[in-house]
Amino acid sequence: MNTQITFLDVKFKNPIVLASGILGVTAASMKRCIDMGAGGITIKSLSMEPRTGHPNPTMGGFDNYFINAVGLSNPGVEEGVEEVKKFKQMCDAPIIGSIFAGSVEEFGKVAEIMCTAPIDILEINISCPNVGEEFGSPFAYSTEAAAAITKAVKKVAKKKNIPVATKLSPNAWNITQIAEACTRAGANAVTAINTASGMVINSDFQTPYLSNKVGGLSGPALKPIALKSVWDIYNNVDSPIIATGGVTNGEDAIEMMLAGGTLVGVGSAVFWRGPEVFSKIVDEMKEYMKKNNVKSLKSLIGKAHTNKPKIR
Ligand SMILES: Cc1cc2nc3c(=O)[nH]c(=O)nc-3n(C[C@H](O)[C@H](O)[C@H](O)COP(=O)(O)O)c2cc1C
Repeated sequence: MNTQITFLDVKFKNPIVLASGILGVTAASMKRCIDMGAGGITIKSLSMEPRTGHPNPTMGGFDNYFINAVGLSNPGVEEGVEEVKKFKQMCDAPIIGSIFAGSVEEFGKVAEIMCTAPIDILEINISCPNVGEEFGSPFAYSTEAAAAITKAVKKVAKKKNIPVATKLSPNAWNITQIAEACTRAGANAVTAINTASGMVINSDFQTPYLSNKVGGLSGPALKPIALKSVWDIYNNVDSPIIATGGVTNGEDAIEMMLAGGTLVGVGSAVFWRGPEVFSKIVDEMKEYMKKNNVKSLKSLIGKAHTNKPKIR
């Protein structure tokens, strides 16, 4: 059984990667995910300067979803670069750098620093839904802004031969067009999707649950939206996809690949199933492969597009 995946010429022992923002940015925590079976890591999104993020409460877990407004807290890109270097001294697993900024120009500058780290792929986070008061609407809602940022970052990353993936938002009404614009602007891949804008009201206190009031929805409730986004992008855009959103078990991951994902991001499931979630998901995928006589995971990418629905 072959679980290996090559994505943008980078070899992953399996397609399951830690999504950005989960489990911090230290080399030790990222290495732990690899030890626990992840095929690769995405670092927390890094900004030019360190950020403390929003005050508590910033996160809540419910039956089928998480809501968070962490507010992109991070130690800044320079410290992130050092952690990536340490990570690469500890293991040779692929690492995806993630950056965000408030303008096209600043994205270019953060990318310049991020690309001094030994990252394998650079992810451009233009889709965080919980920093609107500071940054306005996410750039991922506009084809022009998404393309301009992708172009600026690509220009920098190209000098270091680092491929870029732009991370998209499920709140853009035209995610396929945004993906297409980013691809035309030089993105080698897209990540679909970030959290969906949402909120929770605390009926006991009669207040919003989060200090930021609104936040990003993740976890199982997000999966059908993620699947549809991946499906639409695969159908219309010539870019490989890091399929992310609501993947909790092996079957979810298989569904994401059948919809068109090449890699599969896992975030909130770490909070539900612990860091062992990576090996558990991979084992569950292997069980599926055995049961369905699938020799290689690669063969599943986009396969649901050619099969007709069946009545069970
Ligand atoms: C607490 C938390 C923090 C996150 N921080 C980031 C971030 O810094 N950058 C980013 O691109 N996405 C961030 N995300 C979004 C995830 O990477 C992922 O796209 C989203 O949670 C959907 O996947 P999931 O349902 O597996 O969690 C964050 C998600 C959560 C739950």
